[in-house]
Amino acid sequence: MDSGFVIAVGTAVLLVMALFIILFVAYYQQKQARQQLALSELQERHRRELMTATFRGQEEERRRLAEDLHDGIGTMLSVTKMSLNQLERQLDEDNIRASLQIQKTRTMIDETMTNVRRISRDLVPTTLERFGLLAALEELADRANDGELDVQLDCPESMSQLPSSINLMLYRIAQELVNNAIRHARAHHITIQIACHTDNVRLSVLDDGVGFDFDAVTENERGGLGLRNIESRLSVVNGHATFDVAPGRGSQIHIQIRLQNPQPATLLS
Ligand SMILES: Nc1ncnc2c1ncn2[C@@H]1O[C@H](COP(=O)(O)OP(=O)(O)OP(=O)(O)O)[C@@H](O)[C@H]1O
Ligand SMILES: [Mg+2]
Repeated sequence: MDSGFVIAVGTAVLLVMALFIILFVAYYQQKQARQQLALSELQERHRRELMTATFRGQEEERRRLAEDLHDGIGTMLSVTKMSLNQLERQLDEDNIRASLQIQKTRTMIDETMTNVRRISRDLVPTTLERFGLLAALEELADRANDGELDVQLDCPESMSQLPSSINLMLYRIAQELVNNAIRHARAHHITIQIACHTDNVRLSVLDDGVGFDFDAVTENERGGLGLRNIESRLSVVNGHATFDVAPGRGSQIHIQIRLQNPQPATLLS
């Protein structure tokens, strides 16, 4: 046989084999990349499910606690007050000291009842469930308003119906940010802003307080959970937070959540 022919056939076979190996390696790598992608998608889905379940559990626990507080402690306090009233009626009219003591005790019971009601309301946002996000934010602002602190709500007249999970998330985030501004900022003015667009909803909480170093507080392992919880909540939906904060000036915290089903423009104002 012609040696030239043999070399040509040999080279062709080698080329085919090389091509086969290249194709095989490329196919294998592509398969691995696909598997890797599927695995990370699965892990991400699992993480989201876990976070959602955690927050749902937290809400259920809060509800249980609010019911126990209202039905258990609230009821006991009412009964105690009634029994105190009965005791007062049995007192001689000239027993002024005892009567004063009873009045003082009744005031303390009233204050405790008010606190129990306030804590139950904080635990379960009844207004949110019954009247919606704007009413709940209005209530949050009203309750925080006092002589030294002015809390304003800047919102559209009406807002499209958002999914209840998003409403609850926005309310819990606003609650945390307003509480932070009250507890840490020494602010005089707090503004809560809410705006709904076709494909996203935005919430901002602005204060004129002392500010803080975001990196320092989030790196502090013994620090609070509030800001971290906000980021965890947002990571479950398509949301993110922007912290425009620094020591020595007011803080501006902006939250944006992308809506899965864009809202019809006519419903927005
Ligand atoms: N608006 C603010 N103004 C000034 N400092 C703030 C403000 N918000 C947060 N901080 C600072 O950031 C820290 C972390 O806040 P974060 O909400 O995570 O925890 P916390 O409020 O201390 O505790 P928790 O929320 O768990 O009850 C606060 O301790 C405070 O020092
Ligand atoms: Mg906090």
